[in-house]
Amino acid sequence: MSVLLCLGAFVLLQNVMPGGSMQHGIIGGRVSDPGSHPYMVYIYNWKTNERCDGFLVSKDYVITAAHCKTSVVVFLGIYSTEGLHITNSTSVTAIPHPAYNNNTYENDIMLLKLCKPAPRNKRVKPVALPASENEEFSTNCLVMGWGSQEHNKRNLSSVLKEVNVTISKTSACTTPDMICSEGFKGPGKGDSGGPLICGNVAHGIVSSNFILNKTFVSRYVRTAYHLSWINSIIKKPPKDQRAQPRRFP
Ligand SMILES: *[C@@H]1O[C@H](CO)[C@@H](O)[C@H](O)[C@H]1NC(C)=O
Ligand SMILES: *[C@@H]1O[C@H](CO)[C@@H](O)[C@H](O)[C@H]1NC(C)=O
Ligand SMILES: *[C@@H]1O[C@H](CO)[C@@H](O)[C@H](O)[C@H]1NC(C)=O
Ligand SMILES: *[C@@H]1O[C@H](CO)[C@@H](O)[C@H](O)[C@H]1NC(C)=O
Ligand SMILES: *[C@@H]1O[C@H](CO)[C@@H](O)[C@H](O)[C@H]1NC(C)=O
Repeated sequence: MSVLLCLGAFVLLQNVMPGGSMQHGIIGGRVSDPGSHPYMVYIYNWKTNERCDGFLVSKDYVITAAHCKTSVVVFLGIYSTEGLHITNSTSVTAIPHPAYNNNTYENDIMLLKLCKPAPRNKRVKPVALPASENEEFSTNCLVMGWGSQEHNKRNLSSVLKEVNVTISKTSACTTPDMICSEGFKGPGKGDSGGPLICGNVAHGIVSSNFILNKTFVSRYVRTAYHLSWINSIIKKPPKDQRAQPRRFP
């Protein structure tokens, strides 16, 4: 488990102004209604200057992709990335999946523990995770983010955008922890880590996209597959409750 000091990042970041360009993100699709996805989290990497998305799953935890790396801060309850200042961000402790493989993108999942609990209001609300590993779900799902709106370009969005995608079985889904959709529409660069919502449940995490047999394929991490790992961290009692009485000889 890699642990970042909660306060470290903050000092370095006083003058950074993360934000997208004027264009709208996600390839195809539409601009989201403000406030319609209160679990959406904008993620800024202060080492690489890259952006990712994530989603709030409890008052203390955000889920994103492991390839977004660990030197990040998060912005909760935002719609537009314009004019954002680092003082609007929350520091986190990053917990990437211990078996994340940066070649195959297997286990491309990371938990971010918020250094202070998320407020709960109209603009900030967690999304549900699957209740069990085998939970059935609709193949009509919604993916959203502030990422690029063109393949292989960096037209990052300033406002949240969304598009419906259809989950399909394809040979591009190479491991049991992957879900795929095919077609031109879908997540683009910068949408990594965002949720794939099927029904009202976050069944996937945006991980990668590529062209296979002249078809665009988007790949998501299957959250249900990782439920026991997620719960082993999220449901851990606070440290002081776990502490064992110390024995003296
Ligand atoms: C960011 O913080 C400033 C003050 O620190 C506040 O005025 C502004 O509304 C905040 N913006 C967002 C999007 O929360
Ligand atoms: C993948 O991980 C290896 C070993 O930790 C590291 O040397 C390499 O730079 C990483 N590659 C990428 C693309 O991050
Ligand atoms: C994406 O950015 C390029 C270069 O800045 C621009 O020419 C193009 O019109 C943009 N596309 C969209 C859909 O905004
Ligand atoms: C898009 O997907 C979401 C999530 O599954 C669903 O609630 C919504 O009805 C879908 N919208 C369309 C237009 O298919
Ligand atoms: C690509 O398409 C060809 C012909 O339709 C098919 O035989 C092949 O299995 C496909 N490859 C992959 C990786 O899906």
